[in-house]
Amino acid sequence: MQCSWKAVLLLALASSAIQYTAFRTFTTKSFQVCPIPNPNNCSPGQDPTESPDRLCEDGQLTNSNISRKTHILILATTRSGSTFLGQLFNQHTDVFYLFEPLYHVEYTLMPKISNSQSATDRRVMLGASRDLLRSLYDCDLYIMENYITPQPLNHTTDRLFRRGASKALCSPPVCDALGHTDIYPEEGDCVKKCGTLNLTLAMESCKEHRHVAIKTVRVSEVNDLRALVEDPRLNLKVIQLVRDPRAIITSRTIAFVDEYRSWGIWKTTGRRPKNLDVTQLTPICEDYFHSVSTGLSRPPWLKGRYMLLRYEDLARNPMKKVEEIYDFVGIPLDANVQRWILNNTKADESSPKEIYGTSRNSSTTAEAWRLTLPYDIVEFIQKTCPQVMVQLGYKTVRSSQDLKNLSYNLIEDRSFPPFL
Ligand SMILES: *[C@@H]1O[C@H](CO)[C@@H](O)[C@H](O)[C@H]1NC(C)=O
Ligand SMILES: *[C@@H]1O[C@H](CO)[C@@H](O)[C@H](O)[C@H]1NC(C)=O
Ligand SMILES: *[C@@H]1O[C@H](CO)[C@@H](O)[C@H](O)[C@H]1NC(C)=O
Ligand SMILES: *[C@@H]1O[C@H](CO)[C@@H](O)[C@H](O)[C@H]1NC(C)=O
Ligand SMILES: *[C@@H]1O[C@H](CO)[C@@H](O)[C@H](O)[C@H]1NC(C)=O
Ligand SMILES: *[C@@H]1O[C@H](CO)[C@@H](O)[C@H](O)[C@H]1NC(C)=O
Repeated sequence: MQCSWKAVLLLALASSAIQYTAFRTFTTKSFQVCPIPNPNNCSPGQDPTESPDRLCEDGQLTNSNISRKTHILILATTRSGSTFLGQLFNQHTDVFYLFEPLYHVEYTLMPKISNSQSATDRRVMLGASRDLLRSLYDCDLYIMENYITPQPLNHTTDRLFRRGASKALCSPPVCDALGHTDIYPEEGDCVKKCGTLNLTLAMESCKEHRHVAIKTVRVSEVNDLRALVEDPRLNLKVIQLVRDPRAIITSRTIAFVDEYRSWGIWKTTGRRPKNLDVTQLTPICEDYFHSVSTGLSRPPWLKGRYMLLRYEDLARNPMKKVEEIYDFVGIPLDANVQRWILNNTKADESSPKEIYGTSRNSSTTAEAWRLTLPYDIVEFIQKTCPQVMVQLGYKTVRSSQDLKNLSYNLIEDRSFPPFL
């Protein structure tokens, strides 16, 4: 057997990074907010050594009105509408939102093989990701420095991935250039005007916000998050965002032209290329299926912690869905979020922002794939992913005519009430 030196090097790199982050995690100071699910357990009279939780030590015990921090994770895949969903938290005054911090973990640990299917690579990435998420939820943003190149000096960096997608990182105290604005700044504007990101200030901002929300497309399924869900220091709420795989593939051929070239060729020529990369489709279906099966089977460890959301339902009725989402996470909805929805889902022609941004008329764009994806590809996806189509209530079509007929509804009316 051939021993790949790349794999060895990668493992060495990865394990040193993990040891380092693990070390950082252990030395992390105790949490800001009483982490006990029932704050009454945390009364000052309690013998701290008897208490299951010795982390309640920051003087918060004496405060009878303990508001628990909520940690929200948007678990998604690329091109499934996660930018849109992320905005529904990013726009909330009390939420500190981070857009895909795990990008840096992946980039550091597996720069060349980001689509690696190897179980070892995935485990390495997952361990590091969980450590990072745990620290970020505790507002320890310095932990990011382990993964940012070049390594930040004096806790400042201009390399944070999609910094401009986080409202908190573009407003005071982190950045004064754009002022306190209710209007979400353009991402590029933030990057241009805010200059270098001071991670110390970002950390302060994080602590000032009552809740933390993180979006990621780099965790495969909810089972991968079990250690975080069960961590008593966290109050994690996982929102799994899913989308019709036929729509995802269509969207990826547009957004990731090079990576999805074989699908793009099929789409434009109508002929299936020999080198079609099916592994760009199968993980979506498998991960969805495992994860959603777990979520819908309601294991005790997920009680109160899992919500399944179809992007199509969100796109059709964002105002109603956002209420359900905020009910689930247990945070009062604020007017900024509603205003943002009103301003971003109205009928309007598609804008250039669409590819990486959020859509104007969310319900039209959620279905636009039906007019561009040839029936052959649709049929192929339906055959490759039959289980998940049924599970999520995405109807299959049997002809090109049904496909293009937008009055023929492909989204079964299903409600997936959160597991409370
Ligand atoms: C706790 O804090 C909330 C909001 O800050 C306030 O509305 C509520 O009255 C407080 N409750 C008590 C018992 O102090
Ligand atoms: C970092 O801070 C030190 C001390 O304030 C300063 O001398 C140094 O120039 C700073 N380095 C950078 C790259 O800003
Ligand atoms: C609505 O969106 C437009 C275009 O993005 C922007 O110029 C405007 O300021 C927004 N209005 C509000 C109230 O957010
Ligand atoms: C970053 O902000 C902190 C807190 O305000 C400040 O003490 C520090 O000097 C800033 N760092 C740099 C490099 O400006
Ligand atoms: C979005 O577009 C669809 C189809 O063109 C239309 O039926 C719907 O009314 C539009 N939504 C809004 C909010 O204008
Ligand atoms: C389109 O779908 C609707 C609803 O299923 C159906 O009533 C109609 O006949 C279809 N139109 C065509 C042209 O197939």
